[in-house]
Amino acid sequence: MANNLLKGKKGVIFGAMDENSIAWKVAEQAHSEGAEILLSNVPVAIRMGSISELAKKLGTEVIPADASSVDDLNALFAVAQEKFGKIDFVLHSIGMSINVRKKKPYTDLNYDFLQKTYDISAVSFHKMMQILYQKDLMNDWGSILALSYIAAQRTFSEYNDMAESKALLESYARSFGYHFGVKNKVRVNTISQSPTPTTAGSGVSGFDKMLHYGELMSPLGNATADECAAYCIMMFSDYTRKITMQNLFHDGGFSSMGVSNTLLEYFKEE
Ligand SMILES: NC(=O)c1ccc[n+]([C@@H]2O[C@H](COP(=O)([O-])OP(=O)(O)OC[C@H]3O[C@@H](n4cnc5c(N)ncnc54)[C@H](O)[C@@H]3O)[C@@H](O)[C@H]2O)c1
Repeated sequence: MANNLLKGKKGVIFGAMDENSIAWKVAEQAHSEGAEILLSNVPVAIRMGSISELAKKLGTEVIPADASSVDDLNALFAVAQEKFGKIDFVLHSIGMSINVRKKKPYTDLNYDFLQKTYDISAVSFHKMMQILYQKDLMNDWGSILALSYIAAQRTFSEYNDMAESKALLESYARSFGYHFGVKNKVRVNTISQSPTPTTAGSGVSGFDKMLHYGELMSPLGNATADECAAYCIMMFSDYTRKITMQNLFHDGGFSSMGVSNTLLEYFKEE
């Protein structure tokens, strides 16, 4: 599929942990489209996952950074600046809820965990952009993306405090998109992806059923991680220069549906 869509572009990709990770697929496709990339993840994920193999395969390196730490992010972007000069694209593919992990229900949240969830899953996006903005690290017409989920707009009963994290994440894309657009034509968007079988996805209670539901509801079926990566590549390419401050649904049509015949048939069979 490679068309050199990102030839000459340099990017930083956060959140590849193992080969199921959406960021993993983005890194592979960005590389095959001619980009030079740097990878980053939190140290524990580097130890537990297989990102070092990905880096080796793509001829790049992994810079450890906890995305909730401004010091770590400053250190990471200093490496990126030394390697690339300015940056053309950034992917924030990070999500983690301690309440979900500790099986705290939405009606019994631990608020210290909640702060950490927001910090890792959403505020980290602002922190990245603030550093890139203040240090003038983005090239003109660059592209910054984060991955979101439709629970930001609609209630998904088991998505817990990740729903508000995604709402905040999407709001940062709009607010920072304004400032970055005025400063140097950089676009900032979120892609709202179908349920996808990854470590983060599978952590949500009832995930397999949500995956099945999405499949039955979406006229095009759930979007896969590879398809999501292809969309990210398009958003990093010069073909999407005037798309900014948007939440872009990449979900096979799910977000516009009420009910589908497939779903009705499914209940008939019960
Ligand atoms: N899988 C789905 O169903 C789905 C659907 C819509 C959106 N998303 C979003 O896609 C993004 C990527 O998730 P994924 O599905 O590829 O799962 P994943 O588990 O492979 O990726 C999540 C990543 O977040 C990283 N991370 C966690 N805490 C971090 C921290 N403090 N600092 C830096 N990185 C940290 C993890 O190490 C991991 O690499 C997330 O934002 C997720 O919410 C996923």
